Amino acid sequence: MITLSPPTMIGKGLHRECFLHPEDKTKCIKVVVNGNQQETDREQHYYNFLEKRKISWEMLPRFHGNIETNMGPGAVFDLIRDHDGKVSNSLENYLADKDYVTQNKKHILLALAHLKLYLLENNIISMPIKPKNILYQTKQDGTGTLHIVDNIGNADFIPIASYSYYFGNKKIIRRWNRFFTALAL
Ligand SMILES: Nc1ncnc2c1ncn2[C@@H]1O[C@H](COP(=O)(O)OP(=O)(O)OP(=O)(O)O)[C@@H](O)[C@H]1O
Ligand SMILES: [Mg+2]
Repeated sequence: MITLSPPTMIGKGLHRECFLHPEDKTKCIKVVVNGNQQETDREQHYYNFLEKRKISWEMLPRFHGNIETNMGPGAVFDLIRDHDGKVSNSLENYLADKDYVTQNKKHILLALAHLKLYLLENNIISMPIKPKNILYQTKQDGTGTLHIVDNIGNADFIPIASYSYYFGNKKIIRRWNRFFTALAL
């Protein structure tokens, strides 16, 4: 069993806490602290589906299965780090810094364009996209890459969008447009 300790927590959402993997610095472990495993089960089902489709994991941290922890079942994912080794910050954090946005607008817009293309090319469906669930990984040259860390999958009763690129891409564009408009960049 793996022991997770408070100082190694790297992030926290409404439902889950995310910890550094104590035995692998390239991974993190997410445990549910609020609510049940239902969301996690849906997410993992979708991850397994993507794994079978052999998609690119360029902008989506890969899922590495579940392990037992002192806080209950833990889901293991790739940990997103910046070029200097620091755990990447969320897009929400970066957007809150108006000076940073002014100085880096081109890089942020380019990263957003890449993420949109990535989602469309791999037909990765998500629930509403939120800047708190996207990490901005900075590179040495000042550019960055976005990674979606939460809320992917399809909750439709008949998930045709997951199987059809035609319907899937339509859904992705709808979600994307709502997300992008709200950014007001
Ligand atoms: N792969 C990762 N690499 C680095 N940090 C991560 C990773 N996954 C999650 N985090 C950090 O942990 C936080 C919480 O994770 P996550 O968003 O999955 O929790 P949640 O409770 O499901 O969130 P929500 O409130 O959106 O439902 C993230 O906002 C992010 O800061
Ligand atoms: Mg989240």
